[in-house]
Amino acid sequence: MSFTVLIIGAGGREHALAVKVAASPRVTRVLCAPGNAGTADLGENLAIEATDSAALLTAARQNAVDLTIVGPEVPLCAGIVDRFEGARLRIFGPSAAAARIEGDKAYAKRLMKRCNVPTGEARIFDNFQNAKTYIATRDLPQVVKAAGLAAGKGVFVCDDPADALLAAERLMEEGICGDAGRRIVVEEKLEGPELSVIALVDGRTIYVLESAQDYKRLGDGDTGPNTGGMGALSPPPTATADVLATIEREILVPIVDGLRSEGAPFRGALYAGVMLTAGGPKVLEFNCRFGDPETQAILPRLRSDFVEAIEAAIDGRLDQIELAWDPRPAVTVVMASAGYPGKYEIGRIISGLNAAALPDIHVFHAGSKRIGDQVFTDGGRVLAITGLGATLAEARARAYQGVRTISFEGAQYRTDIADWAVRTPRASGG
Ligand code: AMP
Ligand code: GLY
Repeated sequence: MSFTVLIIGAGGREHALAVKVAASPRVTRVLCAPGNAGTADLGENLAIEATDSAALLTAARQNAVDLTIVGPEVPLCAGIVDRFEGARLRIFGPSAAAARIEGDKAYAKRLMKRCNVPTGEARIFDNFQNAKTYIATRDLPQVVKAAGLAAGKGVFVCDDPADALLAAERLMEEGICGDAGRRIVVEEKLEGPELSVIALVDGRTIYVLESAQDYKRLGDGDTGPNTGGMGALSPPPTATADVLATIEREILVPIVDGLRSEGAPFRGALYAGVMLTAGGPKVLEFNCRFGDPETQAILPRLRSDFVEAIEAAIDGRLDQIELAWDPRPAVTVVMASAGYPGKYEIGRIISGLNAAALPDIHVFHAGSKRIGDQVFTDGGRVLAITGLGATLAEARARAYQGVRTISFEGAQYRTDIADWAVRTPRASGG
């Protein structure tokens, strides 16, 4: 029997999803739209943007697609799942109403408050003068966030009220994030290590996947600007059974119940970005999708059939599945173009790709493009290299072995991914 899966998106996350989908014994054909050089090697890329839901729907019909999996948040928040379901096509991801948990931070804050989910104290403003008055009266570090989708560029962590004021002004008055920043959330700054927890959710049942830690800053030692993510490790030493149980009980269960009671049941991958504060885990944000680059660290550790799990989530059968995981840790290092996350150039030849792909070293493509026999850079984040090993130290060594085998002009990457975790005895296994 034929079984065709369409993956929407073009990043490292989508390549990691495509690898697991292609490994499913049921799947006969993998399509990716628009995809990258990595997904092209696994199946076929369709030249359709992830946001063009009308063209995607047509392509899904023409190619007799049996299942569609959506990677990025923009199409989810724009309602691609509602559109496909309206056309009786099977698709994995939340409805636009449920995706609002990511697309509208003001809504997410209100819902968290109503559901008693621990999160930073926050106020929401539509009016700059009111925001200004509030910020000026607070003599504490604050975080100013665009309420709408801003591709990670709408969050300003400000230790000084003057910086918070400036951030609010640039978002609300200058419109640096467009309409997404006309409404802002002003939140107390939280301290602690961050943890990304992603769960499959079928509207009611929650299946928590192995967790990960993301490295958001560009430079070693968490310096430089925020990025989409420069690396990850799974599982981080901070993710003890106790911490994970608390996050499920205090964060995931109440929010999933809350969404259902609002008439917006969440079906898809629910991502909680959590700060492990001295006062317990607190939510920084929810995402309505798999994380990038967390997925590149988590999925190589999954031993069970991924497509089976996705279908269980769509059909409301998550209470009946059990997933098997590789106990070995994974470390992911992102290789980015010179200039990223600012302006960068594309079209550089990438070499060493085949030599790098050894057992327990996965080369995930993000911003890459194949032309003839050559693969060229085609985005800010170009590749994500994941190493698996008996210890975190070994996983880390494999990831960096892969990184050093690959080269392209101007490549930049962090050299300290998983360093602190390797030094933490529990995780390194001694
Ligand atoms: P968000 O998109 O809301 O997760 O924010 C992006 C990043 O900004 C997070 O991963 C944190 O590193 C940082 N951040 C967001 N909110 C806070 C907060 N309340 N306190 C400290 N850092 C924060
Ligand atoms: N790695 C953070 C995110 O996917 O939003």
